[in-house]
Parts: sequence; structure tokens; C-alpha cells
Amino acid sequence: MKLKTANRLKNMDGGSMIDLLKATQIPEMISFAGGFPAPELFPSEEMAEVSKKILKEMPHIALQYSGAEGYLPLRKHFACRMEKKVNRRVSTEEILITCGSQQGLDFVAKAMINPGDTIICESPTYLGAINAFRAYEPSFVEIPTDEHGMILSELEKALAVCGNMKFIYVNPDFQNPSGRSWSLERRKGLIELAKKYDTLIVEDNPYGELYFQGSELPSIKSMDDGRHVIFLGTLSKILCPGYRLGWIYACEELIQIFKTIKQAADLQSSTISQIEVCAYFDAYDIESHISSIKKVYSHRKNVMIDAMKKYFPKGVTYTNPKGGLFTWVTLPENIDAAVLQTEKAIPRKVAFVPGESFYPNGKIKNNFRLNFSCMPDGKIVEGIRLLGEAITEYME
Ligand SMILES: Cc1ncc(COP(=O)(O)O)c(C=O)c1O
Repeated sequence: MKLKTANRLKNMDGGSMIDLLKATQIPEMISFAGGFPAPELFPSEEMAEVSKKILKEMPHIALQYSGAEGYLPLRKHFACRMEKKVNRRVSTEEILITCGSQQGLDFVAKAMINPGDTIICESPTYLGAINAFRAYEPSFVEIPTDEHGMILSELEKALAVCGNMKFIYVNPDFQNPSGRSWSLERRKGLIELAKKYDTLIVEDNPYGELYFQGSELPSIKSMDDGRHVIFLGTLSKILCPGYRLGWIYACEELIQIFKTIKQAADLQSSTISQIEVCAYFDAYDIESHISSIKKVYSHRKNVMIDAMKKYFPKGVTYTNPKGGLFTWVTLPENIDAAVLQTEKAIPRKVAFVPGESFYPNGKIKNNFRLNFSCMPDGKIVEGIRLLGEAITEYME
């Protein structure tokens, strides 16, 4: 039978990523490709304790259906986290629990985008957001970025001319893929422009709490008057991704819309995941867990940067992130990172994500993303040595 699939599938490209993920599963592959947190740092013993307790004490609630908006005590925890981030009272009515922030991206797109609408985003931007938005058939306007964030004069030019513009998507803290963070000035400038052009901002912020020194910069949501910013949060990088728990923080009117979408999409996030995580928050100190994982990630990032200084040839540059999970490498312009990957890196059993897929309109080929959170020191050094060898051979 010929499958009569929907037109929207033409816009969605999962193929190259699936091939890459297959390649990274080859035994002995040193993979800097995934955006994975380090599994050895998951608080598995603590989670085993809470899981046992929940199943013993409240199985009839934990194993049952529950409300689409999410488990109230967990929404309270998320509202409290947000209060610290935005310095004002946050009501549980402004929080909806999602299956990770990836579902938040899908819901925002489902609620906002008609085919042919325009989305503004950073260039480069998070691949998973591009894929989530693409399903709803928008066109993308990419705004160039530098080490301080989006270039706001370019953003304003785009805002002035874009028809059917639905939202500006940003990942302002330790961005995936570049590892860069927006300066305070750019954050303030963005919110001013959103107000001037009466535009919605989607702030996707999985990495803000993973800063290696100093303190967190104010979130864009903290500068909002309440209606211009949708904030997407997640436990994936600060606790673990396996529970698939994230949240949307937005005005009540939007949360009601997302609740309707949630009901239609999957009824609710897993009841038992929500209750277990809530019990973990009650019994243990998540802040001290976050401090301990940050120390490891900061150390691994330094190991990777030192190795790149030693082994990467001249003409190759990279970001030195102050938090998060990624660094972004720029090769000389004539080098295609995807070809480097297939012809030189995979045969040496080392993998990364070629940069082209982080540009929704394609064309830029000479970047790649490296993840530093997931490999022990020795493998980071060996992987970067092999990668340096691969780049040098390709350049020759
Ligand atoms: C910027 C960004 N947004 C969203 C996600 C989705 O994360 P999750 O659905 O696990 O919360 C990721 C995952 O890597 C990410 O990097």
C-alpha cells in the first residue's frame, strides 16, 4: 500500500540525526554528539529510595491517571524555582507540566503557527526546536549572533518587515549548540523590542542553572510584564531526562490553551514520575546536587578546551562556554563538517554533530557541536586528539 502521509512530513528531517546516532552506538566510539548529562551523576540511589516509598505508601494515586496541568505539589515546586528566577510571585496557575521542554516547544508551535507564518530565531539555533516548529510549516528568519547574543539591530530590521511573525525563539543561557550566553544589555534590548513590536518571546532555558562561576544572569522572563514571554523549563539537565519532566511558565490565559493541547496530545505527564520527583525534592537538596554536577561539567569543559588548544590545527576556533554542556567549533570556510565527520572522524571512532542542521535555512557547513559533559577525562583528551588528526588530514 502506498502511504498517503501528510504534507508536513516533507518539512521534517530526522534522517541524518538517526544515522548519526546509529554511528555513535558503534562500540568504542568516542561520542561528543549527544546532548546527554553524565549518567554516573544521576542520584539513582536517592531515586530508588523515593520510588520504593511511593509504591508502598501511595500506589493507588501514583499508578492512576491524573490532571492534564500536572501534579499540584510538583507545580508548586516549579513555581518556587521560577519565583527565584523572576523575583516575583508565581502562581501554580501559571505552570503546566510537560514531557520535557521538547513537548513545550511542540505545544508552543501547535498553539501559534499556521502554515506560512514566520518564526524568528538565533542563527545557529537548537535543532530540536527547528524540528518541532517545522512540523507546523513556518518559514524561519535567522538573526545573526555574536558572543553577546542576537544582534539586535538585525532583529529590529526583521521585526519591521516580517509579516505573520508569531514569535522569537531564544535559548539565552549557554545555548545549544554554541555554548554562548546573552549579555544583560541584549536581554534588556530584546524585551524592549518585543514590547515595541508587541511580539511574543519563547525563552527555552534548560542550561541557565548550570553556570560554572559567578551567578546566573536574569532570565528574559524576569523582565517581562507578564504577557510577552513564555518560559520553558526542564529537569533533564539538572536532574535527569528519564522522567521526561519539564514545565511551561506563562500567563494563565496561555496555560489554559496549553492545557487543552496537553489533554489532546497525551492526557497528562506520567503520574508516577511527577510524584517521585516531588518526593525527591522534599527529601533531598536539589541545589547541592546541581552544585556537584556543575563542578564535574566545568572540569570536563576545561579538559576539552585544553586538549583543543593542544591538538587542533591553526585556523580552527571554538567557544569557551561558562556553563552548559556544549562548545561550538568553527573550521576554515572551505571545510564541510559533515564530510569531515563521515570521511575522517567516524573511521577514527570519534563523533560530533555537524553544524548545518542548527541553521534552519541551511547553507553554513563549517561548524560542529561538541558535548563535554558525558565522557571521562581520558576519553575527552583521546577524542580531541583524534579529531585534531582528522581535521589536519582533511585540511591537507
Ligand atoms: C535548548 C534545548 N531545548 C529543549 C531541549 C529538550 O530537552 P527535554 O525535552 O529533555 O527537556 C533540549 C535538549 O537537549 C535543549 O538543548
